[in-house]
Amino acid sequence: MAVSICGTGSYIPSYTIDNNGIAALVDTSDGWIQERTGIRRRHIVDGETTVSMACEAGRQALTSAGVSAEEVDLIIVSTISSNMILPCAACEVQKELGAIHATCFDLSAACTGFLLAYNTAAAYLAGGIYSTALIIGSESLSNLTNWKDRGTCILFGDGAGAAVLKADDRRMYLPVTRADGAKGSALTLKSRHDWNVLDVKEKRDYDSDGYFMQMDGKAVFQFAIKRVPEAIRGVLEKNGVRQEEIAWFLLHQANRRIIESVAKRLGEPMEKFPVNIQEYGNTSSASIPILLDEMNKKGLLKSGQKMVLAGFGAGLIWGAALYEWI
Ligand code: COA
Repeated sequence: MAVSICGTGSYIPSYTIDNNGIAALVDTSDGWIQERTGIRRRHIVDGETTVSMACEAGRQALTSAGVSAEEVDLIIVSTISSNMILPCAACEVQKELGAIHATCFDLSAACTGFLLAYNTAAAYLAGGIYSTALIIGSESLSNLTNWKDRGTCILFGDGAGAAVLKADDRRMYLPVTRADGAKGSALTLKSRHDWNVLDVKEKRDYDSDGYFMQMDGKAVFQFAIKRVPEAIRGVLEKNGVRQEEIAWFLLHQANRRIIESVAKRLGEPMEKFPVNIQEYGNTSSASIPILLDEMNKKGLLKSGQKMVLAGFGAGLIWGAALYEWI
């Protein structure tokens, strides 16, 4: 048993902030941001929520797959920025879409979240436990960003992407995923519900820095350019697939220079590494499904093409999966 991706969808907020807009908030410039990251602008929620974007992306993916909500028996929402803790975002999506037969849960693995949602759904489908899954990455990172910190606020954006997976009898590819919690301090965000560790004064100004994302940008950069090529080589070797068989490398969109460095280390042309970070910034677990949906809508994905999906980020967590477009 294996899985096929039979539909994709996405939702992008219409409100945008370009680099000049960021330069009005912190000491930076359009030139610096474009040169160091490849980002030109990002879309930011303006009335939308993580749940509402997940619903729209999920609805679109079902339509694109020609699958009814009632057929879905598994919904996984990957997010670190949900507006809902209870019930989980996936149950909210179930309610909104009318997916009355689905088992629902959220998954928290930051920028590797969509990859892990894909692997989790694939394992359930391959095991015969469920037959139709809706997996969604949805993030409102603008709510978790310190807009006074130029080291992070230039990078992130909001949005959602989704895919519908079905069990089928094609070849099953095994993923490679890893984590290194000991290096987790490179990218952190405290829970705003972590009241136990705060004294009364701290509770009063709980929106101080620790309650927004904090990042050692250089450490994350170095981690990514080393571990992502390793994971990609690892997944190819594990499945006996040659690198030249891969048509597309769909990487988490964190920084254009990271993607270029991975391409260089693998000895592959950038044409095989689609990039849309210039438009959206880093949308964490939404970045891979947004990219997948864009490519699908543009008709770039051809039957029989093999692709690698690779995620990396906070945790630290990273990994790669192989998929053959149906
Ligand atoms: N605008 C202008 N100047 C800035 C700046 C900004 N937004 N941020 C930092 N600088 C300055 C620094 O102060 C430093 O100045 P100095 O040389 O006078 O000391 C200089 O630019 C270089 O800073 P540095 O931190 O070395 O930049 P960098 O090339 O490492 O780029 C990041 C910073 C954040 C863009 C980069 O490290 C990065 O993208 N890392 C990965 C982050 C990531 O992907 N996170 C999510 C993972 S899922």
